[in-house]
Amino acid sequence: MTPLLDAAEQLGREELAVLQLARLRATLRHAYDHVPFYRQAFDKAGLRPEDCRSLADLARFPFTAKADLRDNYPFGMFAVERSGVRRIHASSGTTGRPTVVGYTEKDLDTWADLVARAIRAAGGRPGHTVHVAYGYGLFTGGLGAHYGAERLGCTVVPASGGMTARQVRLIQDFEPEIIMVTPSYMLTLLDEFERQGVDPRTTSLRVGIFGAEPWTEEMRREIEERFAIDAVDIYGLSEVMGPGVSFECVETKDGLHISEDHFYPEVVDPFTGEVLPDGEEGELVFTSLTKEAMPVVRYRTRDLTRLLPGTARTFRRMEKVTGRTDDMIILRGVNLFPTQIEEIVLRTPGVAPHFQLRLTREGRMDALTVRAEARALAGPEVREDAARAIAAAVKDGIGVSVTVEIVDPETLERSVGKIKRIVDLRD
Ligand code: DLL
Repeated sequence: MTPLLDAAEQLGREELAVLQLARLRATLRHAYDHVPFYRQAFDKAGLRPEDCRSLADLARFPFTAKADLRDNYPFGMFAVERSGVRRIHASSGTTGRPTVVGYTEKDLDTWADLVARAIRAAGGRPGHTVHVAYGYGLFTGGLGAHYGAERLGCTVVPASGGMTARQVRLIQDFEPEIIMVTPSYMLTLLDEFERQGVDPRTTSLRVGIFGAEPWTEEMRREIEERFAIDAVDIYGLSEVMGPGVSFECVETKDGLHISEDHFYPEVVDPFTGEVLPDGEEGELVFTSLTKEAMPVVRYRTRDLTRLLPGTARTFRRMEKVTGRTDDMIILRGVNLFPTQIEEIVLRTPGVAPHFQLRLTREGRMDALTVRAEARALAGPEVREDAARAIAAAVKDGIGVSVTVEIVDPETLERSVGKIKRIVDLRD
């Protein structure tokens, strides 16, 4: 039988810190010696890799941002010969050049191990069947999940995203215990089960491993109830590796344990860059500890969370990501994240878990319209009550007035991967 915890998951905090420091120093040296960008950045800060004598010393080193990766497009951040790069992934690049990331054989091996670790923490075991509905391709979701599930000894169904009717049939016919998919696409699958007249609670699925986008506790409850499964979170980003940087344990569902043997996390003030103590919310920053092809030093994720002590593992946890600095809407001076609206919409009777945020400009003022979809049987009165309740909850909870439109069932665009919540109609 495979043990439930691998060796690194059983390290005590002190042993882990020793391992981290050794790996951190080696990473700084590797980056400095092989990536001109890092050499210049360290030189400019007057620092040598060996100046990092403790984990806290890392805070003296400069940050790396997404723009730095773009500036070094395509392969300028690679720290190994091209012939040593076994795989490349890239972000969609909706805003300009895509960001490109590379992996050596060893990087891919580590990645598979860490995703296997995450699936195990979710309750996956060798012999289980895993339906992977994250997109395959340049996106890290599909292939990352795929090799992790194989590494654990599971049978993988590489469904990828899209062709929703077929996905539902495959789930019925192949009887997977586990599904890995974005939470928003899971809702699209839910609709399709219902359209085909299949009760989603009766499938073979026992666990869903959801990530690639922010999702709330309310969404967890919705998915768990409608499918009769356990829903756990998985986090990652291509620049740092892909899915599996951190993962939730099914027995606690209390935030995501970070694989601290491979990634060193910091949370910083997004404005000043100052490192914040554990427990305080800020921007998550990662330094890779073992990556060969593309080490990252203090990479700013733009994701907002806080670090918490470990529970089901000795690794520290990060709280479920509430939002990205990129997704923050500033409405008449009030900061607002789509997840805050998700919480409210999912608590409101009569509306389905589908919503969209439309930003418009009225004169010199920005305005926000929350469009939420009515549940199938919700009549006009229920819809009016729902609209009023959502507007009031936003006003009371977030402190800003919004317009709420309850639209007919099945009218809002459905997700096939990462959902886009905000439609920005300002010029
Ligand atoms: O989304 C990797 C991934 C695939 C993670 C599948 C989990 C499952 P990127 O496309 O580079 O990589 O996007 C990374 O997505 O910085 C977050 O803003 C967001 N994100 C990823 N996982 C979560 C999560 C993949 N569990 C960006 N909760 C990250 C909230 C998440 N946001």
